[in-house]
Amino acid sequence: MSPPTSTGVAEAMAAGSSGKKTRFFSVKNILIYVAGAFSALLAMARAKSTAVSGGIVDPGGPPTIASIFSIKNILLYVFGGCSALFAMALGAAVVIEGGLFNATASTPHLRVVAIAAHAAFIRSVEVRARDIKAPTQFTAAEVTAGFRDYDASCTACHGAPGVSNAAWAHAMTPPPPYLEDAARRWAPRELYWIVGQGAKMTAMPAWAEVRSDGQVWDLVAFLEALPYLSATDYARMRAAAHNANGAPPRAFPSPPAPPSTVPE
Ligand code: HEC
Repeated sequence: MSPPTSTGVAEAMAAGSSGKKTRFFSVKNILIYVAGAFSALLAMARAKSTAVSGGIVDPGGPPTIASIFSIKNILLYVFGGCSALFAMALGAAVVIEGGLFNATASTPHLRVVAIAAHAAFIRSVEVRARDIKAPTQFTAAEVTAGFRDYDASCTACHGAPGVSNAAWAHAMTPPPPYLEDAARRWAPRELYWIVGQGAKMTAMPAWAEVRSDGQVWDLVAFLEALPYLSATDYARMRAAAHNANGAPPRAFPSPPAPPSTVPE
C-alpha cells in the first residue's frame, strides 16, 4: 500500500464502498453508530428504573437547587447535550453521505438556505468592511479606468446599461445580479470589499487577487457612477474606449460618438 498522501480524502472517496480506506460515514458505519447510541440510552433507562424500583433513589418530592445540580444530573445534562450534538452530526452525515444535498447549479437553493446565505453575505460584508477608508470622491479618470475594466471583465456576468449579460450567466446559481443599483445598497467601502474579496460558493471572483488596490477602487468609482448612466451614456463610453484603443469594442454596435460628449 502506498504511503498516505494529501489526496487521501479523494482516494478514500474514490475507493467508495470497495473498503480500501476506512469510511467513517458509510451507511453501514452510520447504522452501527445509531445502534450504539440506542443501546447506551437503553442501558441508562434500565439503570434508572432499577434504581427507582429498588428504592435506591427517592422518585418523589419537589426538586431542590442542590438536586437539580447534583453530580448525577450534571452528567445527564452533559450526556443530553452530547447526544444532541451527536444527532446533529449524524443528520449532517446522512445528508452528505446519502447525497441528499443537491449540489447542481440547475436547481435553485432551498428558500431557507437562500435567505440564510444572503443574510450571512450582507452581514459578513458589513462587518468586514467597517474600518475601510474610502475616498470621499472619485475622479472622472478613475471612473473611466473602472469602466474599461468593468466592460471587459464584468459585463458577461453582470451586464451593463443597455447590455445584457451572457446567456450562460442565467444558468448560474445564484445568478449574478445587475449592478445598476449596487451603489445605492452598498457603501463605497463595502463595494471595495465585495469586488476585492468576491463571494464564496457563488462565481463572484476575488478581484484583488488579480488587480492592484488602485484598480479595485477604479471599479468602485465606476460602480458609483453606474446608477447615473443611461444605455446611451454607456454606448458612448464604449465608443470613446474604441477610439482610444483603436480596437473595436466587444460585441456591441456602438453609435458614432461626438468627442465633446466623452466623459474624461
Ligand atoms: C463569473 C461571473 C462573475 C463575474 C465575471 C463577476 N461577478 Fe460579480 N457577482 C457574481 C455573482 C454570482 C454574484 C452574486 C453573489 C451573491 O449572490 O452573493 C456577484 C456579486 C457582485 C456584487 C454584489 C452585488 C449585490 O448587489 O449584492 C458586486 C458589487 C459585483 N459582483 C461586482 C463585480 C465586478 C465589479 C466584476 C468585474 C470586475 C464582477 N462582479 C465580475 C458573479 C460574477
